[in-house]
This record gives sequence, C-alpha cells and structure tokens, in this order.
Amino acid sequence: MDLSHQAVIVTGSSSGIGEAVARRLAGLGAGILVNSVTSVEAGERVAADLPDALYVQGDISDPATAGALVEAAQERWGRLDGVVNNAGVTIDVPMPDLEGVTVEHWDKVLRTNVVGTFLVSQAALPLLREADDGWIINITSLAGTRQTGSSLPYAVSKAALDHLTAIMAKHVGGNVRINAVAPGLVATPWTEDWQALREGVAAIAPLHRVATPEDIAEACLALVATTYATGQVFLVDGGLGLTL
Ligand SMILES: NC(=O)c1ccc[n+]([C@@H]2O[C@H](COP(=O)([O-])OP(=O)(O)OC[C@H]3O[C@@H](n4cnc5c(N)ncnc54)[C@H](OP(=O)(O)O)[C@@H]3O)[C@@H](O)[C@H]2O)c1
Repeated sequence: MDLSHQAVIVTGSSSGIGEAVARRLAGLGAGILVNSVTSVEAGERVAADLPDALYVQGDISDPATAGALVEAAQERWGRLDGVVNNAGVTIDVPMPDLEGVTVEHWDKVLRTNVVGTFLVSQAALPLLREADDGWIINITSLAGTRQTGSSLPYAVSKAALDHLTAIMAKHVGGNVRINAVAPGLVATPWTEDWQALREGVAAIAPLHRVATPEDIAEACLALVATTYATGQVFLVDGGLGLTL
C-alpha cells in the first residue's frame, strides 16, 4: 500500500500502540502528526525518527487541542486523510471496587476517552471530507464489550466509543469512513507492571500470547485498506474474548 499522499494524525503516539501505528503508516509513506501530553521528549523522538512527521504536544481532553492538531496538520501538509484516535486513560481502581469510583474518576476518563476523541474527530471532519478517502480509526478495547478491563469508567468509556464509532459513521457523510480497533491485552508501557495478567491471558487466549503494539498497527492498516467498511469494530484479541 502506498500512503505517500496521505497525512495522518495519531493521538497518543509517543509510546505503545500509537507509536507502532505511527511507525507503520509512516513506513508506507504517510506524513504523521505525532502527539502526546506529558511525554514530550519521547514524542519528539518518535517524530524525529520518521521520514515526514511533526510533533504537537496537547491534551485531547482540552477542547483547544483538537483544533490545534488539525491546524498543525493543515499547515504542514495542506490536507488531512486520516485520524487514529489512540490516546486514552484509565484510573487505578480495580473493576470490582464499585465504591472506589468517584465523580472525579468519571470526569477524567470520560472527558479524555470519549469527549476528547469526539472533539478531535469533529475538528478533523472538514478536511477529511475533502480527502478522496478520509478515515478515522478509534482505538477502543475488548473491555468495551466484556465485563473486564482496568477500571469501570474505562470499560464504560470504551463501550461508548464503539457506539460513537457507529453513530458517527452513519451520519458523517461524504466519503469518510469511521471504524474502531478493539485490542485485547497488548504489551505496552501501560501494561508493563501487569506481568501476572499477561501470563494469564497468554495461558487462556486461543492464540496463546498477548498482542504486540505491531499487531494492533497491522489491524489499523487493514481497516485503512478496507475501503468499503464503515461503522465497524474490529476485535483484535487473540481470541481472548471467546473465553470470557
Ligand atoms: N495496552 C493494552 O492492553 C490496551 C488494550 C486495549 C486498548 N488499549 C488502548 O490503546 C490506547 C493506547 O494505549 P497503550 O497501551 O499504547 O498505552 P501507552 O503506551 O501508555 O500510550 C498512551 C499514549 O497516550 C498518550 N496520552 C494519554 N493521555 C493523553 C491525552 N489526554 N492527550 C494526548 N495524549 C494522551 C500518552 O502520552 P503521555 O505519556 O504524554 O500521557 C501516550 O502517548 C489507549 O486508548 C488504550 O485504552 C490498550
């Protein structure tokens, strides 16, 4: 696939899945806007490592960030073809601890994962509609469809993102495609302290391992290439969901 004519925003691309997606798309020629919020040096390093990339710091839960990302892409490439809404957060409250979840937790997780993702997509729509084949991919989670995940607000936020994906795909108009990739457990900095969980997943998942960030990047690429699919959630979990 040749993406040398495409410009793509990847939110949260200083590490993990976002970094792998940025590297994979850049390897096919795409110009990449790399983004993160606190890990500025890491984000700048990723951008410097790619043939045609730009780093823009910004918190997607801040309404000003969406416009800033899209304006920076337009200024650099004069176009925008794709957005990978990858940035996301959770809280440190285990799923069964229903009493431990506070209104501040809900505000943080929903504002970032759902509202932030929506605002970036909304800001990108005018340019995506001008593209021949504009697309958005939301990184959701197996936690959005199973009663599992790092926290209750996180799982609920990912379920909301799946629904957001379908509703936006129905109404977006033009040639814009909106899909989601829902990973199971992925070996990224986010999960590096969860060694027991990683081993447990590898033991029960039909494909007997956790995902690499590159597995998820490959799934994103498959959706970029599948030009007649929209409103879909592509579960990429090594079969883990079949066991839950
Ligand atoms: N790892 C898994 O098992 C797994 C499974 C299913 C879904 N996911 C999803 O995959 C996505 C990426 O996770 P990961 O595992 O690759 O984690 P990661 O390595 O920790 O990367 C998270 C990235 O998101 C950025 N970020 C966080 N909050 C942000 C914000 N408000 N605005 C902009 N950037 C922000 C981080 O930047 P800073 O360092 O600057 O905060 C970092 O670049 C998340 O949406 C997560 O829910 C992960």
